[in-house]
Amino acid sequence: MSREFRAPGRVNLIGEHTDYNLGFVLPIALDMACVVTRTEGSDGHISLHALDRDETADFAVSEIALLKPMHRWTDYPVGVAQQLLSSGFRIDAAKLEIHSTVPEGSGLSSSAALEVSSALALLGDQRIDPLELAKLCQRAEIEFVGMPCGIMDQYISVFGKANAAVRIDCLSLEYQLVELPENAAIIAVNSMVKHELASSAYRDRVEECAMAVDAIQRQYPEVKSLRDATMEHLEKVKLPNLILRRARHIVTENARVLLFVKAAARRDLARMGELFVESHVSMQHDYEISCPEIDFLVDAAVGIPGVYGARMTGGGFGGCTVNLVRPDAVKRFEESIIAAYQERFSVIPKVFACVPSEGAREI
Ligand code: GLA
Repeated sequence: MSREFRAPGRVNLIGEHTDYNLGFVLPIALDMACVVTRTEGSDGHISLHALDRDETADFAVSEIALLKPMHRWTDYPVGVAQQLLSSGFRIDAAKLEIHSTVPEGSGLSSSAALEVSSALALLGDQRIDPLELAKLCQRAEIEFVGMPCGIMDQYISVFGKANAAVRIDCLSLEYQLVELPENAAIIAVNSMVKHELASSAYRDRVEECAMAVDAIQRQYPEVKSLRDATMEHLEKVKLPNLILRRARHIVTENARVLLFVKAAARRDLARMGELFVESHVSMQHDYEISCPEIDFLVDAAVGIPGVYGARMTGGGFGGCTVNLVRPDAVKRFEESIIAAYQERFSVIPKVFACVPSEGAREI
């Protein structure tokens, strides 16, 4: 008998790179997901089969704790298996068949979807606290895959909700559901750009933020992370210009998440759209994680009638934009943005509606 475990990808509405600075993020879980089908094994092995790549890998359960990263897709389930073992869970022989509809390298969190669905499949009947599941998958990514990510992607993959965005406080790790106005569609546009740079630049940003905290702390010891920093701190502390700009993105972006949540409660789509654009400008100039293709998509989008706002979503250097669009303007938006992007870059971008969906579970 086989069992299926599903974990979704995500689109982050606002709050980019704020998670590892212990601030706020506002993602939604997507209806695109990774599904892992588990059938029992008998030979003391975990066998992994990636349907989409038609690749198989096989590991003896007794060897899992000793495995080293191989810089391929198997690192995600293997990293998760190691974390499960070190947290006292049991790994039994099994065959895991993996299939994902989350496009890779598009800033939609295909890695977290793979980690969380693999963890559930490896756990089988063993129960795990949902927050522990998210943290364990994040540790797998940091310690085994080697990507010093925050908690957002794994958290939303576990805690996603249909019909709502999830405001996560990355310090307390508590969340609040945020209802979105009905008269706005969330549309993602995939630039189809994947930059090799993304993971090394991500690491640089994590370090730059740590440098900002170090410098601020010398004058203001109460600042434990950029979550605690204010614009006043940034004015009073002499930071090198690059570090100042990185920190300013985080401080202003945290504020924008809270303002966006308030604007959503008032159904104030004009303000929500403005905050999208302000967030994008901050990522473009202060955090420097955008790229010409993405900037083009944002600029083109805001010129199309019925678009409230647009911004890049996810880690950066390519991937997708997220757009807030009046429902009756979606068709025209899609046609216009495809035509403009194709004319400029000779690439057809993928456009899709983001439907807030439920988090990880057995199906
Ligand atoms: C990647 C990371 C997340 C987060 C985003 C940027 O998706 O995995 O933890 O930092 O980038 O907001």
